[in-house]
Amino acid sequence: MGYKVAVAGATGNVGREMLAILAERNFPADEVVALASRKSVGTECSFGDKTLKVKALDHYDFSDTDICLMSAGGTVSKEWSPKIGAAGCVVIDNSSAWRMDPDVPLIVPEVNAAAVTGFTKKNIIANPNCSTAQLVVALKPLHDAAKIKRVVVATYQSVSGAGKAGMDELFSQSRNIFVGDPSEPEFFSKQIAFNVIPHIDVFLDDGSTKEEWKMVVETKKILDPKIKLTATCVRVPVFVGHSEAVNIEFENEISADEARDILREAPGVMVVDKREAGGYVTPVECVGDYATYVSRIREDSTVENGLSIWVVSDNLRKGAALNAVQIAELLGRKHLKKAA
Ligand SMILES: NC(=O)c1ccc[n+]([C@@H]2O[C@H](COP(=O)([O-])OP(=O)(O)OC[C@H]3O[C@@H](n4cnc5c(N)ncnc54)[C@H](OP(=O)(O)O)[C@@H]3O)[C@@H](O)[C@H]2O)c1
Repeated sequence: MGYKVAVAGATGNVGREMLAILAERNFPADEVVALASRKSVGTECSFGDKTLKVKALDHYDFSDTDICLMSAGGTVSKEWSPKIGAAGCVVIDNSSAWRMDPDVPLIVPEVNAAAVTGFTKKNIIANPNCSTAQLVVALKPLHDAAKIKRVVVATYQSVSGAGKAGMDELFSQSRNIFVGDPSEPEFFSKQIAFNVIPHIDVFLDDGSTKEEWKMVVETKKILDPKIKLTATCVRVPVFVGHSEAVNIEFENEISADEARDILREAPGVMVVDKREAGGYVTPVECVGDYATYVSRIREDSTVENGLSIWVVSDNLRKGAALNAVQIAELLGRKHLKKAA
């Protein structure tokens, strides 16, 4: 007997990927239910070669559902995840609502799978921010080898990380500029087409943004609280795929060649690193893939033990839907009573 799985936010960018990945990976589900807001009731979502009719989250009875993959935003998650958890269904949430709750594990299966056991306190497991997920997949094997002291990261984040509305604005703004009828930004704070914006999420008192703060605290929670990290998060006019320029300072010596060999063996990582034109991965090439790609691995001689790397991944997949489905697989294999 397989699981009953609900996807809440099934009509969104991440929800659609969740359904696609559940089908691609043959997740052992007897039934998959698509949930969204009331306005989407009766619309259809693809699930493999099937079509699911969307139901309303707030009319759904979770008592016989085993796992809810939640990607309906923080406000919905704050209200609904505790109720769903109390009904006996384990929530795997994509929003930032629960990530830093000490009673909620924050999981990237390649990095800290063992911490998932903490889910029983609230029946909620959190998925990290998209930029954090791909970063820690690349950092973990290097940390194990040479102990990371400090990380400086600049992100180049695609508009799909801001949901459907972000993709629509890049598309319509680009088209309007081409036809000579530029439109005012509505969703992003400045023009995103043919531009970059060094601002994601709200500003904090110290001048950083909440997106940058999330990368700091989530890396500590998932990987190691001793790692110092500073981030600059930038929105770029790319539809899907986040990139990161990462500078890492280690306690122990590690060469670029050693790092390349270690990363080649690391779970979830693909190394593409030829020192020639085109010998690296860009976001358009990672769309639809599961891997976190690492390129441009080189030593940084300005610190004692330093490396610089370039990290690219599909933010809707490893940054969100794939990671959530991997957590569901982990739960199914080890922690839920029902035999798959
Ligand atoms: N995009 C990324 O790279 C990424 C990465 C990590 C985490 N996340 C997080 O994942 C979540 C979803 O992101 P997204 O990019 O998929 O957003 P999105 O494309 O805007 O989709 C939002 C989804 O939430 C549903 N929803 C909204 N209000 C609802 C309500 N009151 N009740 C039930 N469903 C409701 C929407 O349904 P309707 O169509 O019916 O409105 C839609 O299915 C967010 O918390 C986001 O921060 C996103």
